[in-house]
Amino acid sequence: DKSGYKHFMAKEIAEQPTVLQGALAHYINADATAVTLPEPGLDFTQIERMTMVACGTAFYACLVAKYWFEQIAGIPVEVDVASEFRYREPPVTPGTVALFVSQSGETADTLAALRYMDGKAAKIVSVVNVPESSIARESNLSLPILAGTEIGVASTKAFTCQLTTLAILALNAAHARGRMTDAELSEKLGNLRGMPGILNLALGVEDKIKSVASELSEARDILFLGRGAMYPLAHEGALKLKEISYIHAEAYASGELKHGPIALVDQHVPVIVMAPRDALFDKTISNMQEVMARGGKVLLITDQKGAAEAGQGVWDTIVMPEIDPFLAPILYAVPAQLLAYHTAIAKGTDVDQPRNLAKSVTVE
Ligand code: M6R
Repeated sequence: DKSGYKHFMAKEIAEQPTVLQGALAHYINADATAVTLPEPGLDFTQIERMTMVACGTAFYACLVAKYWFEQIAGIPVEVDVASEFRYREPPVTPGTVALFVSQSGETADTLAALRYMDGKAAKIVSVVNVPESSIARESNLSLPILAGTEIGVASTKAFTCQLTTLAILALNAAHARGRMTDAELSEKLGNLRGMPGILNLALGVEDKIKSVASELSEARDILFLGRGAMYPLAHEGALKLKEISYIHAEAYASGELKHGPIALVDQHVPVIVMAPRDALFDKTISNMQEVMARGGKVLLITDQKGAAEAGQGVWDTIVMPEIDPFLAPILYAVPAQLLAYHTAIAKGTDVDQPRNLAKSVTVE
């Protein structure tokens, strides 16, 4: 049931504030002072490193989580796509926690990677949407993301719920490892609690996105740029766009541009820059200006401050609400999803059933 929406994808994008609220209430106590994990929990003081493995959008959620766990919890994190990880047969050091992220919990490569780690890693943790799935059942600890059934092939609400669950886990780890005080934990949990409201505001940019999407739909290639935790978001934006609009899109870390991809830039290649006004903003903006100097057509996704500082001369700007930089990846998923959706609509493709794709990839 699409509840009045034209597509499941549109419904699932719009549902995000509501499902996120449920996930937050599940893991965070009423006064936002503590996190509750399902049994048997996880002792983060004993963890030496984490290996995160997934496919597609779930892989990009892991890449964001790497920034979080390394920066706030001080845990080294390695991230890999399941299809590479499983055949590389990587050595596993003691004290490694293996974490698998999967919406369906049935992705063949992710499940095979989990089975490879079974008996080698200290703990197997999964972050899944389907609690009775194989990946959930074969883990020592399984964290539900509580996104509700996701029908659109392009994953949307599962991604923001995966990120939210991983953010909660990273905060829990940072606190347990003494890198975050009670007060700091509570502040961050409080900020997380505010996410549904902020996502609602972000959904308000839809009309603006429609207007740029009709022009994007004419492009043959589109580049996405981001730095820090916005780099995986750039990947997610590019994946979503490829998947449903069939426009070739690539993501690069902003700083990598001058190592090759800037050669692609001319007035026919829109460049989408995801840059909240955070500590890395100036660096990203200087890369953006290099693009503009070569005639590139820039769409800047930023906040009010970022737009005021760097919006001059860009093709167009999409303004997101201000947010705690730690939580920006969750917020910036929304414009990435809406851009893909409306570009696909402008092209007239089948948004919910893109060609050649299945919702759940249970064969390798
Ligand atoms: O069910 P999973 O999360 O394991 O699926 C992983 C990927 O197949 C999935 O995220 C895919 O990339 C989506 N169609 C992206 O929108």
